[in-house]
Amino acid sequence: MTAAANELKPVLVFDSGIGGLTVLREARVLMPERSFIYVADDAGFPYGSWEEQALKERIIGLFGKLLQDYDPEICIIACNTAFTLVGADLRAAFPQMTFVGTVPAIKPAAERTRSGLVSVLATPGTVKRAYTRDLIQSFATQCHVRLVGSENLARMAEAYIRGETVSDEAVLAEIDQCFVEKDGGKTDIVVLACTHYPFMANLFRRLAPWPVDWLDPAEAIARRARSLVPLVADAVHAENSDFSVFTSGMPDFPTRRLMQGFGLRA
Ligand code: DGL
Repeated sequence: MTAAANELKPVLVFDSGIGGLTVLREARVLMPERSFIYVADDAGFPYGSWEEQALKERIIGLFGKLLQDYDPEICIIACNTAFTLVGADLRAAFPQMTFVGTVPAIKPAAERTRSGLVSVLATPGTVKRAYTRDLIQSFATQCHVRLVGSENLARMAEAYIRGETVSDEAVLAEIDQCFVEKDGGKTDIVVLACTHYPFMANLFRRLAPWPVDWLDPAEAIARRARSLVPLVADAVHAENSDFSVFTSGMPDFPTRRLMQGFGLRA
């Protein structure tokens, strides 16, 4: 460990649950010299069905404390449901901090689709956000965009990644609305607009009625974060410096094991 590594500020990755780990794993690849703090607001999970004002206040309140406690270099909001609601307020409330957000990848989907039929699989919160509608208006008016708000998929992803079984029927019931046939064309891109969902991508692929491109924005978010975090010559990652914080204060055993697997201390 060098002195420089000791001085480097950490990167804070935030989500309502374990979904942000899909972003953390990409961010680590691009910022190997940095330490990471993974924050899961599991006491507030799932965010998908929260009333907007209450959720806004909760997240702003949490960040007041997180920034004070951990003094990060940058914060990655690895949660569409949170960032589409509170991204602008976070930047206004903490102007000294850099926030990298996660929003539904509607723009790249609109650029890539051949059939013009794109679906956005997200939480009910993200689906009803003005932010999401604005993305469609700005970048995808030439496409037919189907918004699919899933009540259960974030919870199912949590169960799945902890090693519990989830039935094919139950998963299919959540994703089948994404598959649209119209004027001889078929949906060819499904945007994974909740960071929990990439954990289930293999299941989605197996159960899909036809092959589509499942768009996961994690790498793009990591690239954006890398571009904003200064590279420090000679800095190396300090061993065992990454850890996780759960707002409940008591993650269960499978969750602790999962964090360990990701190299995150409790
Ligand atoms: N992982 C979060 C997202 O990207 C949502 C999960 C939840 O419902 O809290 O939207």
